[in-house]
Amino acid sequence: MPRRISDEIISNICDENDIIDYVSQYVTLKKTGRDYSGLCPFHSEKSPSFHVSREKQLFHCFGCGASGNLVQFVMRTENLDFVDALKLLADRAGIVIPEDDENFSSADHEKKKRILAMNKYAARFFYDCLKDPKTGQNAQQYFKKRSISWKTITVYGLGYASDRRDVLLKYLASKGFKTDEVVEAGLAVSRDGRIYDKFRDRVMFPIIDVRGNVIGFGGRIMHNNKEINGYKIPKYLNSPETPVFDKGRNLFSLNLAKNSKSSDIILCEGYMDVISVYQAGIQNIVATLGTAITENQAKLMLRYAGEILICYDSDEAGIKAALRAIDIIADAGGRSRVIRLNNAKDPDEYINKNGIEKFREAVKNAIPATEFKISLIKNKYDITYTNGKILFIDEAVDVFTHLKDAVEIDAYITKTAEDTGISRDAIFSKYREKTSKSSYKKIPNKTEYQKKSAQRQRETEKKERVSASLLEAEKRLLGLISQSKKLYKIAVSQIGEAEFSTDVYRRIAKSIYDSYSNGMPPDPAMILNAFSGSDISEASEVFYNLEIYSGDEATVRELLYTIKLEKLNIRISTETDAAILAQLFTERQRLLDEKNTWEE
Ligand code: GTP
Ligand code: MN
Repeated sequence: MPRRISDEIISNICDENDIIDYVSQYVTLKKTGRDYSGLCPFHSEKSPSFHVSREKQLFHCFGCGASGNLVQFVMRTENLDFVDALKLLADRAGIVIPEDDENFSSADHEKKKRILAMNKYAARFFYDCLKDPKTGQNAQQYFKKRSISWKTITVYGLGYASDRRDVLLKYLASKGFKTDEVVEAGLAVSRDGRIYDKFRDRVMFPIIDVRGNVIGFGGRIMHNNKEINGYKIPKYLNSPETPVFDKGRNLFSLNLAKNSKSSDIILCEGYMDVISVYQAGIQNIVATLGTAITENQAKLMLRYAGEILICYDSDEAGIKAALRAIDIIADAGGRSRVIRLNNAKDPDEYINKNGIEKFREAVKNAIPATEFKISLIKNKYDITYTNGKILFIDEAVDVFTHLKDAVEIDAYITKTAEDTGISRDAIFSKYREKTSKSSYKKIPNKTEYQKKSAQRQRETEKKERVSASLLEAEKRLLGLISQSKKLYKIAVSQIGEAEFSTDVYRRIAKSIYDSYSNGMPPDPAMILNAFSGSDISEASEVFYNLEIYSGDEATVRELLYTIKLEKLNIRISTETDAAILAQLFTERQRLLDEKNTWEE
């Protein structure tokens, strides 16, 4: 993971690089009003909707929503992570990032460097073993049997770990690495007081991050026996988590997929799936590292892709995993579709059976996440019978309550009406009934997973209960107070940083409040550094909103009023207790009266 660079240095690097100068290398900018504008480098357009502000050191595209500060511009145009983008800008400005700054332990850094070096040696060693005609004979045959070419082996750096007890340990010792270091790197294990190579008699898949570091390995047995001499053996063995290997934050083959021109990424389950598909000419494909997908991984993919195409195994476990992936990708702010492969267990088998053209077709026909969910529900019931129809509609409508787009909701309701012969109106009123009730639906909290998904559901519901005008008012308020201490003082007495409606707004509010209380004006470009992925746009709109150029004390009061009123209205619409409702109504009346007095 990127090491910490102090805010002071980040701030220096940002000060020494001007966003207008830098962006001009990519975009012809013209001065328009207070901004500069040009054709957006992130989507194709004929009239300029890409704006850059020197004052705020931010860019924003009113066409595609791309938005951020200079570091984020570099991250996108150069496909770099935050630290590498900063380094590039530091180099440009001739600033040296000190290795021993206080937030950063050079011992940790040194350790990571040594693990990465060991991994690199190990990858080479495994590759050489595979190439060796004698040692690598079986492994070579194995890859051949699975139709993997030498060219593909080289692209992925595949290898073979021999069945001998400690050849890698000896090799790494000859390069100056101590036994405990090799164990810490996950390349050796201690058993019965002795240390052995971890990977033995397996074909090896190096896992490489987007910067090109070998961060870990997966190793597969070359047969399909689940046990030998009564011992269970795992088909795949992966490196354990180490200081450089975090399974929830990396993806197999993203280093290659990120360079593909495609606007989406195919997500599958197995290393062999990725390799087969890549070999057949499709590069935008990745796999998780033997664990279920995490929100971090979803965000990581969404940095490079507009949409994620889920291509999991077609068995029941694969379908369950796909459903989970859909929700996690949605939580990360992304869209997904599902690729369905008939008559094959996984993409690798599918390609070997049907050829790559059929696979391309399946990719093209990937179905939207909601349609996938509905089709699974439909399979559970016989909708030629009334009872089946009722149960089907009930579950389908549950899915619709999570959709946000009105047109999409309408389209699915219409489709359900056509499929079942039940009237649109009836289905729609069921939908209304569920959306108004959903805020106090009880969800049993049994397992950790159920707890998590319940929490996810509550968050979605909370989002749904936030009105557009509330969000708009909060956004404008934050924008205004970020530019004026006087306006901030009015706001801070009436709304706490934790009272804003989205996580992004709360974080921005905290930064702004903290800045002022430390006697400093907030710096939008610096605040934005704390955001990544799809949050950047939401955050940067706060600062990059044309309307915020105007606004005075009266505007702030008006906005604070709107926020209070909207919040009350939302509470009123979900409250069921009569006594509390009466109280809320009184409160609302007081608020309305108050407004009348200052409008007179
Ligand atoms: P092949 O059988 O070689 O085609 O591999 P596959 O990728 O089709 O295997 P499968 O669908 O069974 O597994 C998908 C992914 O899950 C693998 O790529 C591994 O990352 C992981 N996996 C599979 N088996 C094991 C195991 O026994 N242990 C661990 N830790 N991970 C496994
Ligand atoms: Mn397979």
